[in-house]
Amino acid sequence: MRRPMMAGNWKMNKTVEEAVALARAIRELVGGVHPVDRVLCPPFIDIPQVSAELAGSQIAVGAQNMHWAANGAYTGEISAAMLRGVADYVILGHSERRQYFAETDEGVNRKVLAALEAGLTPILCVGETLEQNERGETHSFVGGQVKAALAGVTADQMARIVVAYEPIWAIGTGKAATAAQANAICGGVVRNAVGELLGAEAAAAARVLYGGSTNEKNIGEIMAQPDIDGALIGGAALKAESYVAMVRTTAALY
Ligand code: 13P
Repeated sequence: MRRPMMAGNWKMNKTVEEAVALARAIRELVGGVHPVDRVLCPPFIDIPQVSAELAGSQIAVGAQNMHWAANGAYTGEISAAMLRGVADYVILGHSERRQYFAETDEGVNRKVLAALEAGLTPILCVGETLEQNERGETHSFVGGQVKAALAGVTADQMARIVVAYEPIWAIGTGKAATAAQANAICGGVVRNAVGELLGAEAAAAARVLYGGSTNEKNIGEIMAQPDIDGALIGGAALKAESYVAMVRTTAALY
């Protein structure tokens, strides 16, 4: 059975002090052993102290981005090697990075390969715009994003990758995809694309999250879907009570 995951993407929120306080509140509320993988992804600047705060807690830390190069003249960037030791996960190809920072499928692919090489677990994000959705292009667009980002990835490496389907129209809008819609894309498109690249076994084992306006009210229905293995949570992950409620609801289903 695939292990469920509740990952919080804090985006550009929380000073170091605020981030440590939020991580501490989550650690205290969420308790010990769980069937749910918990990952918190603060801004880069917060990571070392959040990581120290969560040491020994079974709550993992992730970054929200990284550069594909190991080091060099890339002003303002952070490499996988720099994240190793303070983070185990890295969100790659988030739609906000693609939209505002011109990230391409090719660049995301280079980042995925570099993260794997460095021993980080990529949380690879894909998702279509409202216009693409309305034009009926969701399947071809999202399937294409998955295949482009995973070019050159082996089946063994796929076991360490998490894919998050985040329709752009559902992010921060309060309008989540219906559980059935989300399940159809997570399974019929994302998992299917993994299968076309790497075979049925890799597809069955692939962990696929849904993201976009998830909260403590809709997470139960979303997590009850057979092809959804977790959530990448934005706004609701900034409140300890909401995030922990989502972890508890998920734990009760597994
Ligand atoms: P919201 O949960 O705030 O819609 O954000 C989703 C998201 O973009 C997570 O990466």
